[in-house]
Amino acid sequence: MALLFSSRFHDPEVWRTALTVHIPDLEMRVWPDAGDPLEIDAALVWGPKRGELKYYPNLRVIISMGAGVEHILRDSDLPANVPIVRTFDPHMQGAMVEYVVLHVLRHHRHMPEIVENQRRGEWVKYGPEDTPGTTVGIMGLGAFGAPPAQALDAIGFRVVGWSRTDKEFSGVESFVGEAGLSDFLAQSNILVCLLPLTPETEGIINASLLEQLPPGACVINAARGGHLVEEDLLAALDSGHIKAATLDVFREEPLPADNPFWSHPKVTITPHNASDPHPRWVAGIIAENLRRAREGSDLLNVVNLSHGY
Ligand code: NAP
Ligand code: GLV
Repeated sequence: MALLFSSRFHDPEVWRTALTVHIPDLEMRVWPDAGDPLEIDAALVWGPKRGELKYYPNLRVIISMGAGVEHILRDSDLPANVPIVRTFDPHMQGAMVEYVVLHVLRHHRHMPEIVENQRRGEWVKYGPEDTPGTTVGIMGLGAFGAPPAQALDAIGFRVVGWSRTDKEFSGVESFVGEAGLSDFLAQSNILVCLLPLTPETEGIINASLLEQLPPGACVINAARGGHLVEEDLLAALDSGHIKAATLDVFREEPLPADNPFWSHPKVTITPHNASDPHPRWVAGIIAENLRRAREGSDLLNVVNLSHGY
């Protein structure tokens, strides 16, 4: 029995060290040196080569190295009947709370303008701000959307959330599906995207969505670059309808040097670090899913393939 590690973006030795704490006798093979394909019974992956995973006939589980799974599901040639699991833990959820609260408050308290005024030596007062009169709209109320929604409610913002099915979180008004989207958008002064990337949500932050936000709204995308139509956001920023944006994720990462977001005065770029899965944090949950797969017991955080997340 061996675990296949397949990622061009992560250091396998750091992951091996973290996993060995939980599985001292771990046999881990680093792609493309998989050895005998018959010995591979699990794969820990981020963006595996298309078609690769079907070469292991004894594969029992495909484990995403993080919360998102679009980097696996884009492979139309995945082995049939092998479950896919997502990986996240409370550290990662806490990191996302920090990221969203940080950037919501940054927009709410005019920090980009204040920093720019300091650079020019200008003393300009803003506020006081009406926090309960400011609505933060969170698209996606799952493992990474619900905790920031509740934290923002605790700070005093009005919080609305949009998801596929109805939610009952104290302090968060729930809007559901296509039918609820316009009403949700019309009140979102600060929009935060924490949706999974699926065929339904690809390009969802487009001109039509942006124009339904109140004038002067801010946008924070901490989900995936594929949610955003970049030209539409640039046009909405340049027209002044959207005041500012914070972007953590991009269609191409690292963000190419010639991408106009780099130099846009209304855009803050962070390098896809809202909530990285640190190997030390998530090794325990990965080890647990590996143990369950080998025993044939119920896995944790299984992806629903018909929903695509
Ligand atoms: P999750 O637990 O699966 O939750 C997804 C949420 O989105 C659910 O509330 C779901 O609704 C909603 N949703 C899905 N499709 C929808 C649709 N078509 N219309 C309306 N709502 C829809 O996912 P998660 O763990 O919170 O993660 C979300 C995404 O965040 C990940 O896929 C990943 O791309 C991104 N992420 C980014 C970072 C980073 O560092 N930037 C870190 C972690 C995660 P229901 O609840 O009704 O099913
Ligand atoms: C990070 O982007 C993740 O999906 O865990």
